[in-house]
Amino acid sequence: MKDSFIVTGLGGKKTLSGSIAVRGAKNAVLPAMASALLFKDTLTITNVPLIQDVDRMAELLTGLGVTVEKTSTRRYQITVTKAVNTSFATGAAEQLRASIILTGPTLARFGSVSFPHPGGCVIGPRPIDLFLDGFKKMGAHVKITKNHYRITTKEKKLHGATIFFRVISVTATETFMMAATLAEGKTVLKNAALEPEIKHLADFLNSCGANIKGAGTATIEIEGTGLLQAQGKKYTTLPDRIEAGSFLILGALSADDLLITDCNPEHVSMLIELLQFSGVPIEVEKSSIRIKNNGKKRNRDFKALNIRTHEYPGFATDLQAPMVVYLTQVTGQAVVFETIFEGRLQYTSDLVRMGADITMWDPQRVMITGPRTLRSRELEGPDLRAGLAFVIAAIVAKGRSVINNVYYIDRGYESIEERLQNIGVSIERTKNKEM
Ligand code: EPU
Repeated sequence: MKDSFIVTGLGGKKTLSGSIAVRGAKNAVLPAMASALLFKDTLTITNVPLIQDVDRMAELLTGLGVTVEKTSTRRYQITVTKAVNTSFATGAAEQLRASIILTGPTLARFGSVSFPHPGGCVIGPRPIDLFLDGFKKMGAHVKITKNHYRITTKEKKLHGATIFFRVISVTATETFMMAATLAEGKTVLKNAALEPEIKHLADFLNSCGANIKGAGTATIEIEGTGLLQAQGKKYTTLPDRIEAGSFLILGALSADDLLITDCNPEHVSMLIELLQFSGVPIEVEKSSIRIKNNGKKRNRDFKALNIRTHEYPGFATDLQAPMVVYLTQVTGQAVVFETIFEGRLQYTSDLVRMGADITMWDPQRVMITGPRTLRSRELEGPDLRAGLAFVIAAIVAKGRSVINNVYYIDRGYESIEERLQNIGVSIERTKNKEM
């Protein structure tokens, strides 16, 4: 089934209201699930979002022979009960970029790993050179045949190494932090990513016996400690900062009064700062964000601003597409520079079809002139984040839009249509038979 969403837009009105809770973060839970391979005993993960990427990761782990149990709605228990198969199931690995995170713990624990080139959203070439180079530095042997990798270690052990990442990478930082925990000796990761999911994972692993220092900074030092023990401790998945940020942008454009709960506002500081500068009335509490009295503000009274995506704590590339939709509605010219992924602005041609004034300067830079009225269209969800940006654009637009291929949206956002309906969005899912 290839589901579609049918959205009846508000035609620029700002009538959404109520509260919407943020779910656990996809990009926090996936590395946490992979970290189960570092444990002697059962790892319990709570606040798990019910999304397809979690199912894919569970499938991969099960394929390795690991036991994955969903013990209640948002709680998983993962146990490595026997020597596992170290070859990744092709289907799931090819669909999930984050399958790469499993390579580190698998290799470090069992001495070998085989996997196809990881798939995921088409937002640029997404190479894995940092991973292959890092494993070699830790003493592994890498064999590449066509689209397949086989990595092995001598005597089933990785050794510590100093790894300088020539590009800042979130998943590479997580992968090597985990692999180094089971390696012999000390590993130093330099130019590491600073995303909050990394420190949260490191803190949890440390509470279970790991020795990781400096997570959340650019230099992380890991002393190999061997297998960890959870002894009943639970990893609680962080709230999804990208979901919180997307709801905030939706609220700024289409809500009178919206309360976003169960989030960590600190993790979206950059977006809050920008939206407030642009004129959006935002109130921040400890674990919630409110857009208040926004019905009185016209979007055209909000100011345009330039955006440059950047590693955390800069402006997240995963919020770039919803922000472009925002910029089509506010007054002035804005330049958006996507610095992380080469192919992540292609969806803008569909916003142009909806009536947006967007000029592509080059594959990584666009200029947006607003405000422009958006008209409903039939759209194909191109990737997870642009897919949700299309939903936001369809809510803002006049008329009935159809967004096809919502598989991409389901990968990362749990039951998004039901949650949006609760704040007043007219959105329905239709089930289409495969052609
Ligand atoms: N890169 C390399 N070589 C590598 C790995 C990465 O050149 O071996 C480059 C990439 O091509 C890119 C840059 O490094 O230009 C940064 O990519 P990074 O590795 O940080 O991305 P990622 O770890 O694959 C994670 C998130 C992405 C998010 C990016 C950037 C997970 C599972 N995925 O991806 O999330 O966009 O960091 O913040 O954590 C999404 O959720 O929609 C998503 C794409």
